[in-house]
Amino acid sequence: PGYAMKQKPHKILFVCLGNICRSPAAEAVMQQLVDRAGLHDNFVIDSAGTYGGHAGEPADRRMRQAASKRGYALTSRSRKITPDDFETFDRIVVMDDSNSERVPRLAPSTEAAAKIYRMVAFCRRSDATYVPDPYYEGHEGFELVLDLLEDACEGLLEDLVKQE
Ligand code: 4NP
Repeated sequence: PGYAMKQKPHKILFVCLGNICRSPAAEAVMQQLVDRAGLHDNFVIDSAGTYGGHAGEPADRRMRQAASKRGYALTSRSRKITPDDFETFDRIVVMDDSNSERVPRLAPSTEAAAKIYRMVAFCRRSDATYVPDPYYEGHEGFELVLDLLEDACEGLLEDLVKQE
């Protein structure tokens, strides 16, 4: 609590494949951290997917249930990432190699492509190299995703606070 941030809001877009499991959970975890730090007005946080097949849908029920047990409410609706997102957001944070391959192809410039980061790069505790797709996994897959997202979101917030 009580970090003072002076700059204009940090705008962060989390991206996965379907925007129904990993990235909506990342959005909720980051939003809660930011809110608890008293930094609500200093951040704009959203999520999107590289695949638009679930557009308009709420987050996957299994993800919502696992997140709810840790105190996160997933309220976002799925949408596909657009080239405009590279204008709107400062950081585009991707979950895995599939995202890392597809998202740069949507970037309108090399400057825009430099806004892309890997989620696991912000982890302090885990040495995972990607946030695995939980869609075809059991309960443990969703718990692992939440563990990695909590680790990475804490690291990301710490980096941004230090950067000021
Ligand atoms: P997400 O999980 O990328 O974490 O939202 C998935 C959701 C849907 C599909 C794949 C992954 N799908 O193939 O429909």
